[in-house]
Amino acid sequence: MEKLIIEGGIPLKGEVKISGAKNAALPIMAASLLTDEPCILRNIPKLRDTATMAKLLRSLGKTVEIENKRIKVSSNGKINHVAEYKLVSTMRGSFCVLGPLLAKLNKAKVSLPGGCVIGIRPVDLHLKGIKALGAKLEIENGYVHAKARRLKGNHIYLGGGFGSSVLATANVLMAATLAKGETIIESAACEPEIEDLTNMLIAMGAKIKGTGSPRLIIMGVRKLRGVNYKIISDRIEAGTYILMAAATKSNITLVDADISHLMALVDKLEEAGIKVTSENDLVKVKCRRVLKPVSITTYPYPGFPTDLQAQFMALMSLVNGVSVITDKVYPDRFIHIAELNRMGAQIRREGFNTIVQGVKTLHGAPVMASDLRASAALVVAGLAAKGKTEIHRIYHLDRGYESLDEKLSALGAKVYREKE
Ligand code: EPU
Repeated sequence: MEKLIIEGGIPLKGEVKISGAKNAALPIMAASLLTDEPCILRNIPKLRDTATMAKLLRSLGKTVEIENKRIKVSSNGKINHVAEYKLVSTMRGSFCVLGPLLAKLNKAKVSLPGGCVIGIRPVDLHLKGIKALGAKLEIENGYVHAKARRLKGNHIYLGGGFGSSVLATANVLMAATLAKGETIIESAACEPEIEDLTNMLIAMGAKIKGTGSPRLIIMGVRKLRGVNYKIISDRIEAGTYILMAAATKSNITLVDADISHLMALVDKLEEAGIKVTSENDLVKVKCRRVLKPVSITTYPYPGFPTDLQAQFMALMSLVNGVSVITDKVYPDRFIHIAELNRMGAQIRREGFNTIVQGVKTLHGAPVMASDLRASAALVVAGLAAKGKTEIHRIYHLDRGYESLDEKLSALGAKVYREKE
């Protein structure tokens, strides 16, 4: 195991290139199961999670060739319908092979993913949508067994107690592309990653209307073809670098970032006193001023993303005054509070709200990464803190941030890895 050492208090400067979106890459890689023809996918970030999805596709019978950020998924037509526990349990994104496997093979056996530190994370909406398409579902020994003669289009409401679901939308959308007749998904997730998946499916020959909206209309087709597709850039990685710049009062430029996917963050940063401007695919962040405390509540897209909540909290912990942070997507996603407090932050929970009392300085400390975005929050804090921060269990960061230490070093930060 490795740890990440950060010597904090150094302003960042220069340019950072934003990688392809992890959460677009995962369902898009799974969508390659919908065809026997080769799919060439470009701008796939080199991450533990994309490597896990490649492993899963191989275990299902696909050939996956990885060449830098381009991967080619092909097959000899023989696909296996069982997604094993050992792969699905390490990454929830794996569960989105259920829809494509079932649509293509008329059967699928996929391990239930289980919860994780950010919440219980049920899959009831996935199962409700798949069932509405005519599949027979049984849960046995921790696996979902799904069967259908041919899936049949239906009118499906996919909203849940916490709003729309990203991966349930992906699963049902992919299944519906090969179903008989028309499917309408109401309360579909509108995240840019779902829009990207929809565009990829259309390029494969799927008939879909309403791309990017909460109402997706899919007219099933018999067959989908191969595709050569470039995925969008990672808005959460971009947002994380913006928040790192803000916390260290730096001016940096993001290359290949799409600010239109981050309007909720930009709006809150403007309120705090940070200027974010964009020209083509360059995003400039200017953070020289004394900041004002700003409260946020996370919501499904286009609301403030839950995947930036922890990093935003790390920033607010350094802003004089009080801010209130609430997560309406994952109400218990606050495992980072205790670690930030170990660095001198003053953060407490009151019911569903988190109250952040800004402090003048954070102090470097040994801290423990617990999940991907909580770890990113510790990096934001570590870069701004006085002294040395040691982040343990950094494999979480490697799941979602491509070349994090190299990118930060290029921005002038003192960041390096050491063996535990
Ligand atoms: N939910 C249900 N039932 C379901 C599915 C979801 O109640 O069947 C609830 C969840 O428990 C949560 C809410 O609905 O309260 C939203 O969850 P969603 O299904 O949208 O999350 P997801 O699709 O499992 C994706 C991302 C997450 C990101 C969320 C929310 C991928 C691979 N994962 O998860 O990303 O936080 O959407 O935007 O796309 C991350 O990258 O760090 C990460 C956790």
